[in-house]
Amino acid sequence: MKKTTRVNHPPAVNVPAGNRPVVAPIYQSVKFTFADTAETAGFLRGEREGFFYSRTSNPTLRQLELLLAELQGRDDCLLTGSGVATIAATLLSLCRQNDHVLAFVESYGPSRYLLRDLLGKFGVRHTLLSIEDLAGIEQVLAKTPTRLVLFESPTNPVTKIADIEHITTLARRNGALTVLDNTFAGFHNHGQFPIDIFLHSLTKFASGHSDVLGGAIIASQPLIAKLRKDLVSLGPSLDPHAAFLIQRGMRTYFLRYERQCANAIAVARLLAADARVRRVFYPGLETHPQHALAARQMQDFGSVVSFELDGDYAVGDRFADALQLFAVTPSIGSVESLIMPPRILGGGDLTPDQRVLAQMTPGTVRLSIGVEDVDDLLQDLKAALDRAFA
Ligand SMILES: Cc1ncc(COP(=O)(O)O)c(C=O)c1O
Repeated sequence: MKKTTRVNHPPAVNVPAGNRPVVAPIYQSVKFTFADTAETAGFLRGEREGFFYSRTSNPTLRQLELLLAELQGRDDCLLTGSGVATIAATLLSLCRQNDHVLAFVESYGPSRYLLRDLLGKFGVRHTLLSIEDLAGIEQVLAKTPTRLVLFESPTNPVTKIADIEHITTLARRNGALTVLDNTFAGFHNHGQFPIDIFLHSLTKFASGHSDVLGGAIIASQPLIAKLRKDLVSLGPSLDPHAAFLIQRGMRTYFLRYERQCANAIAVARLLAADARVRRVFYPGLETHPQHALAARQMQDFGSVVSFELDGDYAVGDRFADALQLFAVTPSIGSVESLIMPPRILGGGDLTPDQRVLAQMTPGTVRLSIGVEDVDDLLQDLKAALDRAFA
């Protein structure tokens, strides 16, 4: 073999039976082969297990899929290259022309974009209600045949809690699928409810370190099989190296989540005691209007603390710019603390009435609390409030 050939056919190294790595290797290979063409044909006919092309499946991704399905309490999982791809792929795969989707003003902005601007083009209709409008949800589902209900809990940014039992009961009664974007709550929450499909951005708590994008769809095996078939042709696959980083992040998922929640409640209490803060939104606070519901539904209350400054955009800017430990940047769930000040919090596509329903005002700030020392975080927030109101 000439060297130019050899570099493309390097020596194989097989790990002997009984000699296993503690951490599974990254299968950074797009292609897999079988012993011969007959074996390959057998695989393609579904007669044997294996891997062939990584857009369809890959061992590094499969390990993460199995782990996440188990944590969320469902049989199967499908990974995507970002969280938003889980929403797009689920909607595109499950909806057809004239179908109706029930969604909420408190949803993640790109979910609203997908429904309005993308699926709208293909004749998929939707209604946006407030997640608190239980009577409205009942009425819409009773009157309008609905393909699916897409919702979140806690919601973004003001951490409203969806009444999941109520929503799943009504959806089932009326033949609608429930799709819960469970990114804020995490894999250890909400599995006890009869949700049909869980979506997660793995960019947040799963990876935890702000260095990789990813998404997961978790559901029953038949639903995942259908979604997988469509997703293979849509193409938003996760790269094996990204899957490896997320798998590594998952090793500390519970430790990080626990620490972030402990820090978040301390931050919420500090803000609630400050006269320069009008309202604090954190489901773990007894003063949160849905604290009892959150305590029934969830094992903990998440790491997003939102609040309303007693001031306008300029006060919000000064507050954000004075913080030393909170980066002004989107996303949540990472080890470092983050802030979205009112001027850049988003929701620009909402009508004034919808903004009122979503409780987004010129004072609304969203914090994502990290794993830093809690006293440092509290001190930073106090000093920034002093600077903002000086
Ligand atoms: C609730 C929720 N769902 C989905 C996403 C999208 O995730 P990604 O950024 O991984 O596409 C986000 C990101 O901010 C989110 O907050």
